[in-house]
Amino acid sequence: MGQAVNFARELEQVTDYWSPRVVGRVNDQYVKVAKLKGELVWHKHDAEDELFYIVKGRLVIQYEDKAVTLNQGDFHVVPKGVMHNPVAEEECWIALIETVTTAHTGDVVTERTKSLEDQLGGSGVTTI
Ligand code: NI
Repeated sequence: MGQAVNFARELEQVTDYWSPRVVGRVNDQYVKVAKLKGELVWHKHDAEDELFYIVKGRLVIQYEDKAVTLNQGDFHVVPKGVMHNPVAEEECWIALIETVTTAHTGDVVTERTKSLEDQLGGSGVTTI
């Protein structure tokens, strides 16, 4: 049986921005934590929704026709196939729920893009 996992405690160990870390798995979804600052990149995930939950700070999800502001305790689901860009003016701590097949920056690759292996590093969580 698993242990209790605490989002804030997991995030205290994260040193790099925009580098999601897998901390659990629920069926075909990974539970991840990440520290964000600045913006990622415009992208979409053709086949997967992704859930953002704010542990600390504020995150704006930019869409082409609007922006959604998320504060501590809020969550938001980015629908599959929709262009989006997460922006954190100040450091923001988040949890993510993403299908195991979800690529970090969706349909684009940048120097910021983290592979699934990067995200799984040392977690002990099983791969696909
Ligand atoms: Ni995304």
